[in-house]
Amino acid sequence: MVSIVIGAAGGIGAAFVQALGRSAVGYSRQSEPAIDISDEASIAAVAQLAAKGEAIDLIVDATGFLHGEGFMPEKTFTAIDPAHMARSFALNAIGPALLMKHFLPLLPPDRRSVFVTLSAKVGSIGDNRVGGWYSYRAAKAALNQIMHTAAIELQRKRPQAICIALHPGTVETPLSAPFAKAGLKVRTPAVAVAEMLQVINRLTVADTGKFFSYDGAELPW
Ligand SMILES: NC(=O)c1ccc[n+]([C@@H]2O[C@H](COP(=O)([O-])OP(=O)(O)OC[C@H]3O[C@@H](n4cnc5c(N)ncnc54)[C@H](OP(=O)(O)O)[C@@H]3O)[C@@H](O)[C@H]2O)c1
Repeated sequence: MVSIVIGAAGGIGAAFVQALGRSAVGYSRQSEPAIDISDEASIAAVAQLAAKGEAIDLIVDATGFLHGEGFMPEKTFTAIDPAHMARSFALNAIGPALLMKHFLPLLPPDRRSVFVTLSAKVGSIGDNRVGGWYSYRAAKAALNQIMHTAAIELQRKRPQAICIALHPGTVETPLSAPFAKAGLKVRTPAVAVAEMLQVINRLTVADTGKFFSYDGAELPW
């Protein structure tokens, strides 16, 4: 079993590396070689390296951006800021798209393999009842569309490969920390990853292109 985790220094990414054990190679902006998803050359270099190794069974994209660098999720459309929105799209949609561009071709043509990108239920348009968080919601919705489109193409080229978007639920990490509030079901990264690995292990080719929650439920677009 060979696994690659990108975003391995993050709360959920580190827990994936831990849970997958010796099978996992983790890449982040701090690893050597490093992956910065806003730098395509760094993605291409790591993919070239991975292509020389053993056949890959699982790739987890655990990167993402909700707040930081002076940006917080917007509570109102009057707070929409082009720099914030561009940053969110760069890190939540375009970066993961480049990971698909360089890593999906590495999936084996002759056996089951899985590519998972961590999305968020707030990216679901059908599930959006409370509004707000324009940049993050829109970028995750774009990510879901990119993943679904790539899965259609992947099915033609790698019929046994599975590509999904996965919502981890609310997890105790730096990303969710400013929004922790009483009554919210917050799980540790270890618990969330154990739940997500159960979902990942049960996936079949019939599931490719779909958007799942950590409990295995399929989420609306
Ligand atoms: N936590 C939750 O409650 C929750 C809920 C729904 C969805 N999610 C999704 O789950 C995923 C993981 O989030 P998390 O909670 O583990 O957050 P996190 O601890 O903040 O991890 C996010 C990771 O993304 C990496 N990243 C950001 N910009 C990058 C770049 N340019 N190149 C490479 N890596 C970059 C960060 O790397 P550095 O370590 O180098 O900064 C960090 O390791 C995200 O997609 C998030 O949207 C989380």
